[in-house]
Amino acid sequence: MCGIVGYLGKKALLPLLVQSLRQLEYRGYDSAGLSWFDSQSNQLKTVKATGKLQNLANALPPELMQETDATHPAYQLGIGHIRWATHGTPTLDNAHPHHSQNGEIVLVHNGIIENFATLKQDLQGKGYVFRSETDTESIVHLLEETMKQTAENTPFIDILRQTKQQLTGAYALTVMHQGSPERLFATRQQAPLVVGIGLNNDEFWVASDVVALVAYTNKVLYLEDGQLVELSPEGLKLFDADGQALSPRVETIVTGPLTIDKKGYKHFMLKEIYEQPDVVRNALSGRLSAVDAPIALENDAPYRSKQHGDSLPKTLDALVADVDRLVIIGCGTSYNAGLVAKYFIEQLVRVSVEVEAAGEYRYRQPVLTPKTLVVAISQSGETADTLEAIRQAKTSGARTIALTNRPDSSMAREVDAVIDVRAGVEVSVCATKSFVAQLVALQLLGIFMLEQRTPALPAQLALLPSLKQALLRIPVQMEAMLSDVDTYHKLAKKYAAYPSFLFVARGINFPVAMEGALKLKEISYIHAEGYSGAELKHGPIALLDEKMPVLTLLAGGSVFDKMLSNCQEARAREAQVIALTNEPIPDGYADTFMDVITYPACDELLSPLLSAIPLQLLSYYIAEHLGKDVDQPRNLAKSVTVE
Ligand code: G6P
Repeated sequence: MCGIVGYLGKKALLPLLVQSLRQLEYRGYDSAGLSWFDSQSNQLKTVKATGKLQNLANALPPELMQETDATHPAYQLGIGHIRWATHGTPTLDNAHPHHSQNGEIVLVHNGIIENFATLKQDLQGKGYVFRSETDTESIVHLLEETMKQTAENTPFIDILRQTKQQLTGAYALTVMHQGSPERLFATRQQAPLVVGIGLNNDEFWVASDVVALVAYTNKVLYLEDGQLVELSPEGLKLFDADGQALSPRVETIVTGPLTIDKKGYKHFMLKEIYEQPDVVRNALSGRLSAVDAPIALENDAPYRSKQHGDSLPKTLDALVADVDRLVIIGCGTSYNAGLVAKYFIEQLVRVSVEVEAAGEYRYRQPVLTPKTLVVAISQSGETADTLEAIRQAKTSGARTIALTNRPDSSMAREVDAVIDVRAGVEVSVCATKSFVAQLVALQLLGIFMLEQRTPALPAQLALLPSLKQALLRIPVQMEAMLSDVDTYHKLAKKYAAYPSFLFVARGINFPVAMEGALKLKEISYIHAEGYSGAELKHGPIALLDEKMPVLTLLAGGSVFDKMLSNCQEARAREAQVIALTNEPIPDGYADTFMDVITYPACDELLSPLLSAIPLQLLSYYIAEHLGKDVDQPRNLAKSVTVE
């Protein structure tokens, strides 16, 4: 989704801004642009391009792109943006940065201005001519108008603050003003923005994600909602929404390496699929050390300090001890991970679990009590719907946990506790390793809850040693699975031309079927649905004929036989039935399956960790066979920061 970068300092500006934007590129975008202050002409310059970032790099003045840090004694100042279209198609006019009518103010924006239509009408009435279809343009004209209405020499930060008061919605803004040539201004409201600080407090970066600036500094200030910042060679000034000066809480980034590198793989998605054994090892490390030792789960909440009046971090055992209901919310793949967790936790811990898509949850009036634990699952920790839903849960008095891959994210900063899923940076838009890492973290949370429960459930506790043993075996089993690529090449070739797929499963693998269908549609654009085998007869069976592949998940355990019957029903309608199984197929089923994919036997409760992998590989190789843009599929964004 949209990404913001900004820089003030003495490094070669345009190469730095382009490089920073490259770090955000994986999030999905359709156009890009840069503005900078040209000291020779005393003018703001802007270049934009549609399509890939390379188009922008090619359009920039070559002499500026060839500059090196050594060639730059003077202060440089610029902002950049990648846009994922919300208001208006991906055109040059709609790309950011946007200029005020007098050309003196330029800005980049992430988020959505909800009252833009009213603002636009009002501004048009005052003679402002809109050049784009964006909501963003209303902000920049409003800045100019506010400036006109304000006493001369009013500091620009006050103009920004007054303008901000008239905006409704979610936004992160970075702004330059021609009258303030060595100053960058930024503010946020329900959209992330972070400032990077150079060693001597005279060099600054701004970014919508720390990934964009981590190559330059590890000293950062995460802006909070409503805050405004002014950056200049004299230093950083932070203000609240009322204009009161604040003392900035500068943090040293402690997250793992945020490097973005394909490491020889053709696509990030393939690399991330292959990282999964290590991702599981990492997620278990220090938490599950021995089969007879309790799970050690700590609150991974980011740095808190008494100086800033933070409450002390809550421990996870205090949060889960007497919980009587769990509510899990998330979007996309994270939602599917929550659905798997419902089967796992209800069966093992005997606590009721509800799972709901965050975008629906936030507009209901759910019943929450102080004994309800709400777990928000989010790889990015920035998904707008999940963030808002967990905020509401917190306000309603429920206990809140963020289960995320980004303990530095907005979500992680607002909840009672954080569980870091430790997947490492996931670049491909299509989530793979983060799904598996989320599953492991949820399984650990479930076991942890069982171990903390009073009164204890001896029969359930007796299941834990073998379950833990099975969990520790998972990485090696994954490695064995990942050594076979030929199967997926062949299957991809055979099935890539089919226009529609069904993924069918029951029990704990039903959400994995939904996740498999999601993977396929995301990257190959083939229509696919995940269905419960039990529901097959209630509608989808009408779709079945020889043109419909039905991929069936047959995990050994409680629903294996039921699934076999569903497979026969599908085959009786001549569907192309493919089995994904970790149990020998009984005699008499030779004609039921066109193809059989096998994976190692494991505890049924853990089977989603393994059954997800063949579905990821199948989707990957089908998309690759079809020549699709695997890592950046059309219309999709990695982190959906708008509603
Ligand atoms: C987008 C991504 C998905 C992801 C979903 C939720 O749709 O493309 O891969 O599952 O957002 O993202 P989150 O960061 O909250 O897990």
